[in-house]
Amino acid sequence: MERNTAKDAWNKRYSASDYVWTDKANQFVETHLADLPAGQAIDLAAGEGRNAVWLASKGWRVTAVDFSTTGLEKAARLAADHGVTVDFIEADATAYQPPASVDLVVISYLQLDSDDRRLVLERAKTWLKPGGTLFIVAHDRSNVTGGYGGPSSPDVCYTVAETVECLDGLEINRAACAQRIVSTDSGDQIALDTLVIASEPASP
Ligand SMILES: C[S@@+](CC[C@H](N)C(=O)[O-])C[C@H]1O[C@@H](n2cnc3c(N)ncnc32)[C@H](O)[C@@H]1O
Repeated sequence: MERNTAKDAWNKRYSASDYVWTDKANQFVETHLADLPAGQAIDLAAGEGRNAVWLASKGWRVTAVDFSTTGLEKAARLAADHGVTVDFIEADATAYQPPASVDLVVISYLQLDSDDRRLVLERAKTWLKPGGTLFIVAHDRSNVTGGYGGPSSPDVCYTVAETVECLDGLEINRAACAQRIVSTDSGDQIALDTLVIASEPASP
């Protein structure tokens, strides 16, 4: 999808007053990042800010980046409601460059075609301080036919193997197709996510 069309589509989707993804952090973010010592973080494609705000409430200094003005406005309201500070930057994920290295980069359900996905992952892995963490969760390609919700286009979905391949030079701490329980009116459903957690080797 052309970039401005995609941006307009996300702005429209976020224009409803309710949160599209709820205001609660993603379950894997909560499970895997709860014990990480707080530092400087980037939430890339932060959307309505659920993960950025959760991180800020844990003491992280968070920069939330997204190309959706409407998403970032909602994220700013969520941060204010929780009494936390988050820095917001409206930018394209394929071009954003942070001014300094950080301790954590979170990329949660950023849907891009394969060339842009590879570009973003290869850029993001260079933003980490020694020992820093890159946390990626996304709709797995197997979800299109075997899981609940998510995009119908396999092109914007991830696989564990392709994701790990982009992270050459990092230590892979976790790489799995993970089952995410989604509560619906007709009972619990299972969504299939690519989950990869990697870290920049610590300085000797
Ligand atoms: C499925 S939402 C996920 C939002 C958030 N990370 C979360 O987990 O709640 C995908 C987000 O990616 C953003 N996005 C998509 N393409 C982008 C791009 N090229 N640059 C910046 N943001 C982008 C959209 O605006 C949207 O907020």
